[in-house]
This record gives sequence, structure tokens and C-alpha cells, in this order.
Amino acid sequence: MSIYSRILGTGGFLPKKVVTNRDLERMLDTTDTWIQERTGIKQRHVVSDGETCVDLAEPAARRAIDAAGITPGEIDLIVMATTTPDQIFPSSACALQNRLDIHGCPAFDIQAVCTGFVYALGVADKFIRTGSASKALVVGAEAFSRIIDWTDRGTCIIFGDGAGAVVIGADHEPGIITSCLHADGAYRELLHVPAGVGNGYNGALFVEMKGNEVFRVAVTTLGRIVDEVLTANGMERSDIDWLVPHQANMRIIQATARKLDLPMEQVVVTVDTHGNTSAASVPLAFDQAVRDGRIQRGQVVLMEAFGGGFTWGSVLLRY
Ligand code: UT7
Repeated sequence: MSIYSRILGTGGFLPKKVVTNRDLERMLDTTDTWIQERTGIKQRHVVSDGETCVDLAEPAARRAIDAAGITPGEIDLIVMATTTPDQIFPSSACALQNRLDIHGCPAFDIQAVCTGFVYALGVADKFIRTGSASKALVVGAEAFSRIIDWTDRGTCIIFGDGAGAVVIGADHEPGIITSCLHADGAYRELLHVPAGVGNGYNGALFVEMKGNEVFRVAVTTLGRIVDEVLTANGMERSDIDWLVPHQANMRIIQATARKLDLPMEQVVVTVDTHGNTSAASVPLAFDQAVRDGRIQRGQVVLMEAFGGGFTWGSVLLRY
């Protein structure tokens, strides 16, 4: 009998501190109206002094484990997606594993920027399908505000911090139906942090983004993802109950919803209050819609994301 993975529980966590568009108006040459019209964002949460990515990941993970009705000791795989790890190494997944008092199971980070959680979920699903794990903790967490130049109005207005998590477990029925993961490094300089280990770059550790070029590629690529998922599974647009998109920009989300012929009532939107939390955006949005009762057991959910690399991908699942 085939093994599949199914979502057992979800969790999310946002740092307390909120930065509104009005706050940004006081710091930059921008307006609340411009930010809302171009992005749909009203506010974003950001870490406080001393608060790190793993500080956000831990409560999100604990909530997902509680919601799954299991104990941390039952987790036999941890995959954590982040662009803003607490340290270069050991991985944030190892730090999280230690906080949860879990010992011995594989734990590793995935770096696919905003597509990180979709990558992490796709990889964890494959561990479960091959029998290499039976209960996996999959986390997307970011202290993204730490790599933002708060004087650059082209980037700082869109990003925020947070963490989302799911626990997936082995089952005889899907669960996760398919995951499609892609990358094209030819685009890496359109959205990147040039700083690295010994690469000769001496500037600050900040995100640089050619926003409008990223925007154009994101819209066409996410449109292709919709076709890819539907064709691969012999499904119709009407088979999708919920779209849980990466929360980069309201206009990108609306374009993908149009491609799916989905009314915005079936699209989970958090970009207005969270901003773009990179690898945390999809699991945070998913957790919110599960907890407020919108996404029900048995419904079909399409998660998709696009980000630096470029990377892009989707996970189609029955909740
Ligand atoms: O999550 C990973 C992937 N990332 C994304 O998907 C981000 C995709 N990109 C975007 O969301 C958008 O490109 C932004 C929201 C970042 C920018 O919006 P845009 O509509 O693409 O604006 P733009 O960069 O083309 O700039 C248009 C104008 C420019 O002024 P001029 O040259 O026309 O006079 C900018 O200088 O808007 C100006 N501008 C701003 N004005 C007020 C840029 N940022 C701001 C700002 N406030 N914050």
C-alpha cells in the first residue's frame, strides 16, 4: 500500500512589535496610500532587539505539535526554511530541535528564500512517502527585517517577520497530492543579499531587489504554476477550494487568483497585516485559515510561492 503524508496540525507566531505604514511615512519618502495601492500592505510585524528567527520558530512549532495532538518526542524529522538563520551554522533546525528537547532525528535548513516553506514541505513529504520519516515538523521562519535597509523605500515597505509550522504524518491516503519545485539561478541578481562568506563583497548585509522586474517574472511564473499543477493531476480549476499564496504583493496574489478563476473569498490573504514574511508567509496564512475555520478537512488547497533564486513552486494537498 502506498504511503502519503497528511497535515496533522498547524501553528503560527508573530513578533509583538508592529510597524505601520504611518510609521514608515515618518521615516521615509513614502505614503500609506502608495504602499496600500501598490502592495495591499497596511502593517508588518518585526522582531525586537535580541529576538531571533528561532525565537519565532519555537512557539509556532509548539502550536503545530499541540494541534497535531502529539508530543515533540514523536517528531522524527525537522525541516526548517529560513533566509535569516540565527547563525551561519549550526542550522536553525538544529537550534529548534534542541529547544524542543528532541534528540537524534535529522534536522536541517532549506534556503529557497520566499519559496522556502514550499520546498521544505515538498522535501519532508518525500521523506514520508519513502518511509524515512513518519512525523515531520516543517517550519518557515524569518527575522527578515534584520536584512532590510530601512532607508530603502523600494524594499523595506514590503517585508516583515514571523513563523509558521505544520506537522505532517504518514497516512494511506493523500494528504499532499503533489509538490512541484523549480529554480533558475540566472535571475539571482534581481533579488539578493550580495554579502557572503569571503566573496569579496564589503557592503552591508541588506536585501537588494529590482522590484518591478521581480514583479513581472513572478506574475507570469505563478500563472504557469497553476497550469502545471492542474495538468499534472488531471484537475479542473473548480477542483481547488483554497489558494494559499506567498504573500508578496496583493496585485501578484490577485493575478494568480484570476488565473485560477477563483473569487478572492477563496484566497487566503494576510499580506495586509503581515507584509511579506518570506519563508513564513505560506504557513502563517495556512495556519490562520485553518484556525479560523475557513479551511476544512477534506478540502483541496493549492499553496504556491515565488522568491529569490529565482525559486518557485507549489504544493497541492487535501487537508
Ligand atoms: O517575495 C519575493 C518576491 N518579491 C516580490 O514579489 C516583490 C515584487 N515587487 C513588488 O512588489 C513591487 O515591485 C514593489 C511594491 C516593490 C514596487 O512597486 P512597483 O509598482 O513595481 O514600483 P516601481 O519600483 O516600478 O516604482 C514606481 C515609482 C518609482 O518612481 P518614478 O521613478 O516612477 O518616479 C519609484 O521610485 O514608485 C516609486 N516608489 C515609491 N514611491 C513611494 C518606489 N517605492 C516607493 C515607495 N513609496 N515606498
